[in-house]
Amino acid sequence: MAAGSSLLRIGVVGYGHLGQYLVERILKDGAALGLTLAFVWNRNPTKLTGLLPDELILSELSRFADRSCDVIVEVCHPQIVKEFGQHFLSQSHFMVGSPSALSDPDLNMRLRQAAQQYGRTLYVPTGALWGGQDIQRLNDSGALKALFIRMSKHPSCFRLTGDVLSGWTEGEGRRVLFRGSVAELCPLAPNNVNTMAAAAVAAGTLGFTGVQGEIVSDTALSDFHVVEVEVTGPDGFTVHTVRRNPARLGAVTGNATYNSFWNSLLTCKGHGGRVYLC
Ligand SMILES: NC(=O)c1ccc[n+]([C@@H]2O[C@H](COP(=O)([O-])OP(=O)(O)OC[C@H]3O[C@@H](n4cnc5c(N)ncnc54)[C@H](O)[C@@H]3O)[C@@H](O)[C@H]2O)c1
Repeated sequence: MAAGSSLLRIGVVGYGHLGQYLVERILKDGAALGLTLAFVWNRNPTKLTGLLPDELILSELSRFADRSCDVIVEVCHPQIVKEFGQHFLSQSHFMVGSPSALSDPDLNMRLRQAAQQYGRTLYVPTGALWGGQDIQRLNDSGALKALFIRMSKHPSCFRLTGDVLSGWTEGEGRRVLFRGSVAELCPLAPNNVNTMAAAAVAAGTLGFTGVQGEIVSDTALSDFHVVEVEVTGPDGFTVHTVRRNPARLGAVTGNATYNSFWNSLLTCKGHGGRVYLC
């Protein structure tokens, strides 16, 4: 906790949908829950002008340490995790809102090492993943054998780096876009597979190359995203969950995921120099 204050100081990096939601909740409910806003940074600072008091706007992200944060939350892009993740961990706990960044084995290792070196926690929010802690427990006991996650959404909800979805038509129905390891999926759909990335962190023994995923475009899903998780343990043990996450047409993020992020942030009070699913 920053000197002279009993409130946890939170820095928010990114002011898109999730960033705006978190900033609003911290300003509205934070004090009662022990949080205060230390800064907000956005790539385009004009988006913040007039909406937030000037003293809360950070214009140069490289000056983040001036704000003495307890927790820094990234909600913008994996690239910022790559550029700043280690620096953030040298000063604060760090909640990585774009965990697909961790599919890069080198970055993953550097962030884990930084967390250990500085005694600060790298928090990975569960997002739309159901049962993340159960998966982690099974993993930690050595009993997790396989994990598969299928994410199905309306085609307007996908942001893909390739052109696999070009030319979709309303009413075309269901189309499997990709099936493979989460390591292969993350670069193809970095904004859509954060839930799978969180699962790959929970299932550390399988990791990004061992956890399998599938993304499916389905024009029937105009009101919600579907996340299916299939867990396999020893001796025929299996769990299959199906989460229907209400979402606006074209939205990358389901409605319930916003509240899930807020609850994750409330957990970020320091859990030592390690990665922690929250
Ligand atoms: N963990 C999860 O379950 C989960 C769920 C939803 C979204 N996300 C991730 O969180 C992040 C934010 O999501 P959102 O819904 O608020 O997205 P958004 O598109 O509404 O906002 C993203 C913001 O980041 C900025 N930005 C984009 N690229 C950037 C870059 N290279 N450098 C700096 N800033 C950049 C944009 O200008 C925008 O202000 C995304 O990476 C998204 O994939 C994670």
